[in-house]
Formats: sequence, structure tokens, C-alpha cells
Amino acid sequence: MPTRLNIDFSGKTVVITGATRGIGKSIADLFKDAGAELILTGTKISEVEKLNQQVSGNEKIKYLCLDFLKEETVSEFLEYLKGVGKIDVLINNAGINRINYVYDALQEDWNDMIKVNLTGPFILTKQISAIMKKNNYGRIINIASIFGSITREKRSVYTTTKAGIIGFTKTTAVDLAPYNILVNAVSPGFILTDLTKNILSEKELEDLAKEVPLGRFGSPEEIAKVVLFIASDLNTFITGQDIIADGGYINV
Ligand code: NAI
Repeated sequence: MPTRLNIDFSGKTVVITGATRGIGKSIADLFKDAGAELILTGTKISEVEKLNQQVSGNEKIKYLCLDFLKEETVSEFLEYLKGVGKIDVLINNAGINRINYVYDALQEDWNDMIKVNLTGPFILTKQISAIMKKNNYGRIINIASIFGSITREKRSVYTTTKAGIIGFTKTTAVDLAPYNILVNAVSPGFILTDLTKNILSEKELEDLAKEVPLGRFGSPEEIAKVVLFIASDLNTFITGQDIIADGGYINV
């Protein structure tokens, strides 16, 4: 008799940061299709209001403002979370990348990337894991990057933050294992989103695609599918891992 594999998030509450576009939006779309209740964040209040209007009438989706570079939005978001009794899944997806040679790197860029890519996930993991512990259930997924394992020029700061989040994932997984909370990183390779389009020229995009064994950039949906699986009840034994989805890039 074949076993039917089913991914169903009905009755589960999922928090996804940076869910207004790119990879975060694709992750949110898949969780929505799987029946989850969603708490989604974006950085701009106008965008958040517009998105809330678009989903008005759907009690299961709520957009909130969260900009890790604006202290007041962070405290307001944490305050909101205090009123949410149960959170089953946290996806730390929001991230920024500003590239520069190390000798030209700006102190401000270092500070901002540390805040968004590392401090943000730490603050949310701390507060939300306390809720998960009480329920003896949780899944936390940190969106890292292949640049947490390998690197190339001008990525000194970005690589520092992504290697950092992979380290954070490993220890957090150990700390939270006794409470049935599984913590993993998912590391995308080259994915076509605003983030990549903003830092790479058309020519660089074409050249990079040729370096990928699968011969192309990945899509946000291809990352979202990995996240959905690792966050689902189909995953009961993978924790503390960095799952790389890169079309084979880092092996060549
Ligand atoms: P994107 O730029 O398309 O979207 C980023 C999201 O993060 C947006 O929803 C934005 O609102 C949010 N965000 C930006 N600044 C923020 C801040 N200050 N506070 C809170 N949220 C903020 O980026 P993309 O490509 O979808 O990236 C998502 C994640 O995947 C990031 O962590 C990125 O580092 C990672 N990644 C992306 C790759 C790619 O090729 N696009 C490759 C490897 C990793």
C-alpha cells in the first residue's frame, strides 16, 4: 500500500519576515495554499496597508510593519506577538545585501546588515521560541545563503552575517531540541529576485547562470518548496542543518 504524503498547515500559525516580495512572498503563498494562518511582515506602512486591503475578508492573513532598522516598529511587532497565544512556525527570511570591497565597505552597511540579517532573527527567535516551548512544538527556519559557506569578492559583510546565521541555527537547534522545536537554515543559491537584480548587471546574471550546473537561476518557488517541507510534519528528524538549494553551484 503506498503511503500518501500530505502537507497541511491548517490550525498552524506561521510568522514570515520580509514576505512582501521575492522569496518571502513565495513562501507565504505556499503556506497560504497549505491552509496556514499567516503573520507576514513588510518594511513600509503604505505597502502593508495595501496588502491588508487586498486580503481583507481573509481572517487568516495579516500583514504588519517590521523594519529591523527602525526600533519602534520592532518593539510594536514584539508587543503584537505577545498577544498571539500560539506560534508554530517562524521563518526568518528578511535580509539585505550591500556589496563592496572590504576596503570600501561602509560602517553603516556593516551595522545595517548585522541588524537585519542577524540581530533581527535573534530577537524574534528569542521571543517566539519562548511561546513554542510552552506548546512543546515548533519549527524555525532561517534563510541563510550559499554565501554563508562559500564567498566571492565584495561579500565580506554579507558572508559574515550568513555564516553567523548558520552558526546561530546550529546552537539554537540544540537549545530547543528538548522542546520539540526543530531549527534549520535553508541556503539559496542564485535566485532571481529584486535583491539579485539590484546588485548584479544583466551581463553578470547571464555569466553566473552559466556557472550553475543546472544552467540557470532558481526561482523563489523552488526555495519555498524546500522551506515548506522542512517546516512541515513530514520533517521530524532534521534539525540544526543548513540545507543548500543552489542548482549544484557550490560543488563546481
Ligand atoms: P528581496 O529584496 O526581494 O526581499 C527582501 C524582503 O526583506 C522584503 O520583503 C523586505 O521587505 C524585507 N526587508 C528588507 N529590509 C528589511 C528590514 N530593514 N527589516 C525587515 N525586513 C526587511 O530579497 P530576496 O532575494 O527575496 O531574499 C530573501 C532572503 O533570501 C534574504 O535573507 C536573502 O539574503 C536570502 N537570499 C537570497 C538570494 C537570492 O539570490 N535572491 C540568495 C541567497 C540568499
